[in-house]
Amino acid sequence: MSNTTHNATSSRPSAVSRRRFLKSTAAAGAGLTILRSGVLSGQDAPSNKLNVALIGVGGRGRAHYGAVRGENVVALCDVDERAFAAAAKEFPGAKQYVDWRKCLEQKDIDAVVCCTTDHTHAFISNWAINRGMHVFCEKPLANSVEEARVVRANYLKNKDKVATQVGMQRRASPNFDRVREAVLDGAVGTLKSVHVWGDRRHGQTAYLPAAGDPPSYLHYDLWIGPSPWHPYNPGYFGGCLKWNMYWDFGSWQVGDMGSHTMDLAWNVIDAGVPTSAEAHGDPVNPDVAPSALTMTFEHPANDWRPAIKVTWYQGAHKPESLLGVPTKPGHGALFEGDKACLVADFGSFELFPRDQAAGMAHYAPRPEAERIPPMGNFQGQWVNACKGDLKTSSNFDYSGTMIEQLLLGLVAFRAGARIEYDGAAGRVTNHDAANALLSRKYRDGWTLDG
Ligand SMILES: NC(=O)c1ccc[n+]([C@@H]2O[C@H](COP(=O)([O-])OP(=O)(O)OC[C@H]3O[C@@H](n4cnc5c(N)ncnc54)[C@H](O)[C@@H]3O)[C@@H](O)[C@H]2O)c1
Repeated sequence: MSNTTHNATSSRPSAVSRRRFLKSTAAAGAGLTILRSGVLSGQDAPSNKLNVALIGVGGRGRAHYGAVRGENVVALCDVDERAFAAAAKEFPGAKQYVDWRKCLEQKDIDAVVCCTTDHTHAFISNWAINRGMHVFCEKPLANSVEEARVVRANYLKNKDKVATQVGMQRRASPNFDRVREAVLDGAVGTLKSVHVWGDRRHGQTAYLPAAGDPPSYLHYDLWIGPSPWHPYNPGYFGGCLKWNMYWDFGSWQVGDMGSHTMDLAWNVIDAGVPTSAEAHGDPVNPDVAPSALTMTFEHPANDWRPAIKVTWYQGAHKPESLLGVPTKPGHGALFEGDKACLVADFGSFELFPRDQAAGMAHYAPRPEAERIPPMGNFQGQWVNACKGDLKTSSNFDYSGTMIEQLLLGLVAFRAGARIEYDGAAGRVTNHDAANALLSRKYRDGWTLDG
């Protein structure tokens, strides 16, 4: 499989002017208009379709086919050539690449959907933004604190030009906003702390041993990409739970379900990066992220709540109950206030009053007419944003700050110390050695912000 390079003809509008056209036509035409000639104009007109590149077309990539089926998918990229057959059936006109850097050279791309391994997410997102492309990146957005900061800064510089979204699609469940409304409307009283958990475990203790040569359909060197070299083993393949516990490829459940479940809290607490982090769990292992883990972050007060602590519990540390209240199985969050605790999973929540006699008399749910409006389809929100106002619920500022917090917890875990954090400078202020853990080492030839 060779990379094909697109030759843009000189008569084509430049990629950037085309994107500007898409945006202005979408903004000007509200919805769809059928002209007398029968030609469609407005957001769904052929001229108003996005040219999309899908990077990582197998596995999770397949979940995005439907979202972009109505657009022009012009490029497919995967390191595993077997993934092209199904994708090419869906998108027969698209050029095929095995190296995402070559793919992003294709000049007519407006928007990128990235579904690769976690250790390439920030790279692909930065490179795409730097080329003026909109980005939907699967979670987690980054694999180090530095990556989270670089991609977030890059987005903020370009937020008037590109729409970004991280694949935290559970956020589209109306329950996320019902939880926000309940906490902001005083259901728990004054918010004191937030606790978030996930019960997945892994049993790996080391990178896998060498197991022969990679098969010919797999571009293993490109799969390793910017990470330090590890010999091929087929055990790394078959979905994210095969590779995301190894530090060079992911951050285990911190980035995986953490991206979804911490979002239950993040959507409520209106927080920035924390001022401190501490963590404990399995013994620190140079190869794999911990299975059992507890991380606690301090967040300063904001205009509606006091300073709070946010705690993440993972694997064997997932509590059965907290503060005398049962947690939900699997994944969930508890908001502790002085009047009640609210316990939520992705689809529902329950309230537990502190004072049984008083019950929940202090709280009345807001009328339906004042509820936060539903966001609709999560991927659809991003597609529309690319053509319109660029606004999404999980843009790289919101989700970049959230993953920076979570990955900072792993820095505290590896440092074995409570760390204090200057979020403006992106520096640990009380532990010099921890600063080295904020970033990852890359192989020669790979640039995070290229
Ligand atoms: N939002 C969600 O609910 C959700 C669900 C599952 C997975 N994910 C995320 O999606 C990502 C992929 O997970 P997966 O389980 O599909 O993994 P996977 O290992 O199956 O990889 C998906 C596809 O990407 C390809 N790929 C890997 N590295 C690549 C690279 N550098 N360039 C091009 N293609 C590459 C693989 O060959 C495969 O076809 C992960 O980051 C994971 O966290 C999100």
